Amino acid sequence: MITAILFFSLIAAILLVVLASLKTLQHFGIALPLYVSTVQAVNENAHAMPMLTDGRQKFVVTTRNKINGLPMSAQNKQDIYRFVLGADDKLAKLLQSENVPVALTGVTFGALTVTFRLRLREFSRQNLDKLMKMEGLISQVLCVESVRLMQCAGWIDCEVSSPVRATVSLDSLAHATDGTTVAMGVDSNMQPATVDISQHGLIAAIAPSRRGKTQAIRTMLYLLKRANPSLNIVVVAFKTEDWKAFESCATLIVDSDELKQFQTWLLATMYKRAKHPESNRWIVVFDDLANLLTVNPELQNSILQFSSLGAGTGITTVVSTQFTGKDSGGVAMTANATARLLFKPSSNMQGARDGGMARLGLDQLSTQKGDALLVVDGDTVRIATSMTDDRLIEQLHGSVPSRDWLHKESQPQHNYGALPTSIGVHPMEEAIEKLNGWLLDDGTFDWSVGKFNNRSEALRRLGWSNNGSGVEKLKELEYYIFERQEARQRPRH
Ligand SMILES: Nc1ncnc2c1ncn2[C@@H]1O[C@H](COP(=O)(O)OP(=O)(O)OP(=O)(O)O)[C@@H](O)[C@H]1O
Ligand SMILES: [Mg+2]
Repeated sequence: MITAILFFSLIAAILLVVLASLKTLQHFGIALPLYVSTVQAVNENAHAMPMLTDGRQKFVVTTRNKINGLPMSAQNKQDIYRFVLGADDKLAKLLQSENVPVALTGVTFGALTVTFRLRLREFSRQNLDKLMKMEGLISQVLCVESVRLMQCAGWIDCEVSSPVRATVSLDSLAHATDGTTVAMGVDSNMQPATVDISQHGLIAAIAPSRRGKTQAIRTMLYLLKRANPSLNIVVVAFKTEDWKAFESCATLIVDSDELKQFQTWLLATMYKRAKHPESNRWIVVFDDLANLLTVNPELQNSILQFSSLGAGTGITTVVSTQFTGKDSGGVAMTANATARLLFKPSSNMQGARDGGMARLGLDQLSTQKGDALLVVDGDTVRIATSMTDDRLIEQLHGSVPSRDWLHKESQPQHNYGALPTSIGVHPMEEAIEKLNGWLLDDGTFDWSVGKFNNRSEALRRLGWSNNGSGVEKLKELEYYIFERQEARQRPRH
């Protein structure tokens, strides 16, 4: 009898200890916090109507496992888990009532989004069109700020704002950063999304105020400098506070006179490097271009030239701007930024300009800080960008570029392709600027006879009509370019 009592007391004590330790681990978010609620959820739904998923039990288990792997507290995991199961139910009812036969084949979790992967059960244009127009309805039913539907090969991704925000781990971004490849944020599956800066002359972050442009660029520079201490970084900034932490690892330019000298120096350096390549790498940031342009309008033309020359010379230009209108570097942006970080625009029209291409789904982004699309050579990824603390940046070390541009006498001489940085100097110089560095490419201009090898292409680039008067104008330009070159080559006495 006593043995039996002792035995059962022991069992009870063991059970108590196990429960208590589970509770403690749950408090720190490292146990299987969803286990109890998951089991309940399965039982609750066992009798309910079939949801969007075919294998309900399997869906619940995989969802639970995925959520348990997310870097967030136990409470947040519970919230997100309830949201997903509730969304499955609500979406099923909505799609049933709208008569769109859809299956849910998976769910992925990003830092700011939950993505439901939907598949049409019956393929028809009508079903697809209906589904693709349901963004507004879905946002109402799920009570979320943003819903973005994207057609993929065989399925449709329905990205909705997540009820909780996961922290983007700097370590995982650092892990994915190597050489010239840098992680700009995490995608809707928490995987780092990268850009190879050596492939881009111009990278642009475009958004209305306070969306997270500067923070995204700060993180990008931090990761690159951490991976490559010899990287040369120059930051031209309007809001100096944002960049103070970089003082020990980058050269900061905040004075408009210095900026003017730097522009000329950079352009000349690029031309020099185009002819005599150098292995060291530079990254030049113009933060808040719209404001920099108010004191330095000619910067727009310079950026056009930096962007077309940059990638091949080892110098990448990064700009952030609030607008892409005509007066704010917009022409340069849309035409020449081959990598763009786009946040939710202030209007759809603005979005179309920022994106430079239709149907990116920019207006379906949320206004959450760091919610952006990364568009690289036409490929679009929804990412969550990260912030970097000043204290981490201050720990960076490595080379800091010296201010060579301040010593006028040491500036390299322009060669024939060096274009002026100020506008309206001479009508022919303006025409040359329009060619945007193309003149320098091998085979563009036949210097022995003084004419363009492909006149139609030159006319197209200049925006001149391809007729008698256009060709006459072009001949004048050819003569001007040729003469200018001859004059430069003539020995000076
Ligand atoms: N990824 C992020 N995660 C969380 N908060 C962020 C993130 N990025 C930015 N923020 C917050 O938003 C604020 C504004 O960010 P930031 O200065 O980068 O905006 P901006 O787009 O450069 O604005 P502006 O156009 O006015 O210069 C930051 O001070 C920070 O508090
Ligand atoms: Mg900013």
